[in-house]
Amino acid sequence: MGERITVRTLLSMKRNGEPISALTAYDYFTASFLDSAGVDVILVGDSVEMVVYGAKNTLTANMEKMLFHTEAVARAVKRALVVADMPFLSYQTSMNDAVKNAGRFLQAGASAVKLEGGWKFAPIVRAIVDAGIPVMGHIGMLPQSIKKMGGYSEQGKDEDSARQLIEDASAIQEAGAFSIVLEKVYENTAKKITENLEIPTIGIGAGAKCDGQILVVNDILGLFDRFTPPFAKKYADIKTIIIEAAKKYTEEVKNKQFP
Ligand code: KIV
Repeated sequence: MGERITVRTLLSMKRNGEPISALTAYDYFTASFLDSAGVDVILVGDSVEMVVYGAKNTLTANMEKMLFHTEAVARAVKRALVVADMPFLSYQTSMNDAVKNAGRFLQAGASAVKLEGGWKFAPIVRAIVDAGIPVMGHIGMLPQSIKKMGGYSEQGKDEDSARQLIEDASAIQEAGAFSIVLEKVYENTAKKITENLEIPTIGIGAGAKCDGQILVVNDILGLFDRFTPPFAKKYADIKTIIIEAAKKYTEEVKNKQFP
């Protein structure tokens, strides 16, 4: 099983050039399987809202749901670092709410929280870290700002937006974050950010030069039949396995072969 992964482990993985493997999980069983497979970071992502609850975007995720899923995941995990995603409006409204809500995730069993945003969110990251709660940043494409961004497009391709993302990443590191997710960041910009930072970058659709990679577990397992992002690689086709099994069962019940 190996030693428990901590935020310090991730920092030394970056220093040693060891890639970080991260996936989302939302329930006890999946989390325990990912943990025994040696995944380093398990994120209880607010993507739960889309892949488990069938919502159009992540905006309707809330603290109560995220806490339930965090408890289930944390109960299962023995080795990986469990990070809980702070849902929309749980950290944007006030510093007090941000710190209190982040603390609730630690009480639910997470070892860190993740929040979306660049330099404007640095004071919030600082306040949470000062309360003793490790924070993972998240810049680039920000699903919680989908209405403002107007779509899920690649970020940081032109010079100005690349410079802005590099500054955002530095501000989040300065504020005390232990790592940062780069979502749909243009590969060359992600490379520059990664070289610029002491903390590890975890990419999703941000190319091969990040210190680690994260994907939504349903996408790699083929357990999501609406939109699958082009950068997600399907490692299994669980949807087909479930449909085949359910068909066979139904057939056997109808034919009186089972029980
Ligand atoms: O909610 C989520 O799954 C995420 C990852 C895609 C990074 O934030």
